[in-house]
Amino acid sequence: MKRVVFNQKGGVGKSTITCNLAAVGASRGRRTLVLDLDLQGNASHYLLGEARPALTLADLFDQILNFKLRPRKAVEFATATPFDNLWLLPSHPSLEELGPKLESRYKIYKLKETLEELKSDFDDVWIDTPPALNFFTRSALIAADRCLIPYDCDSFSHQAIYTLLDNVAEIRADHNRELAVEGIVVNQFQPRSSLPRRVVAELLAEGLPVLPQALSASVKVKESHEACKPLVHLLPAHKLTGEYQALYASLAD
Ligand SMILES: Nc1ncnc2c1ncn2[C@@H]1O[C@H](COP(=O)(O)OP(=O)(O)OP(=O)(O)O)[C@@H](O)[C@H]1O
Ligand SMILES: [Mg+2]
Repeated sequence: MKRVVFNQKGGVGKSTITCNLAAVGASRGRRTLVLDLDLQGNASHYLLGEARPALTLADLFDQILNFKLRPRKAVEFATATPFDNLWLLPSHPSLEELGPKLESRYKIYKLKETLEELKSDFDDVWIDTPPALNFFTRSALIAADRCLIPYDCDSFSHQAIYTLLDNVAEIRADHNRELAVEGIVVNQFQPRSSLPRRVVAELLAEGLPVLPQALSASVKVKESHEACKPLVHLLPAHKLTGEYQALYASLAD
């Protein structure tokens, strides 16, 4: 399954959710690849720490721009992480300059072709996106089968969800009939405070596809980022790890 984790709002949990769900899948024996399309590189740092990969997504997109008769295979750009079955196509700051060049040369379907090439190497692909609907995010929505939308229970984000769903529907209609919104993931949920409960109840009442398994707020997420270890490895018995496991299990294979 190829999934994109998308919300144009910043700081809602995209990178954390991408890496933790991918790590759960990998720990269950699925050959899993994470793509970090955000030039901030948060997912890359989370999974690799200070290690410097030999090749990154920037090299892959550079190869796409500078056509070669004997290109490297897509799998050669992937880096093994310290975790079994988990690989990464890392971000790089030069994605910033590459985006407009790729866009002006109509390379929007190249990520989809790349993932088709990688089909025999990986069981699952998880794509982390930047907080913007830029060339890379649109490429990811065109390449993926499923879209997960992290939601931070902020009432300002409520209206933005409709814009986001419109954007996804437009890409589905124009470019990718396979794309399905798998659901809204309620992140940093605080069941004891009334605002998040009210906001989630409103989303459900409006018929929005909120997934039943929410993710609690926990200080352990920060520790996990600092240790560069997803929760399933850092704290396998923690409540939030159990929520990631349950969320993973509720998703389609
Ligand atoms: N369940 C959680 N509990 C507590 N903190 C969390 C949780 N999930 C994410 N965070 C924190 O929220 C912040 C934003 O998370 P993250 O970087 O995953 O979001 P993002 O959507 O990828 O952000 P950006 O849009 O900048 O890429 C981080 O500091 C992270 O540690
Ligand atoms: Mg992020």
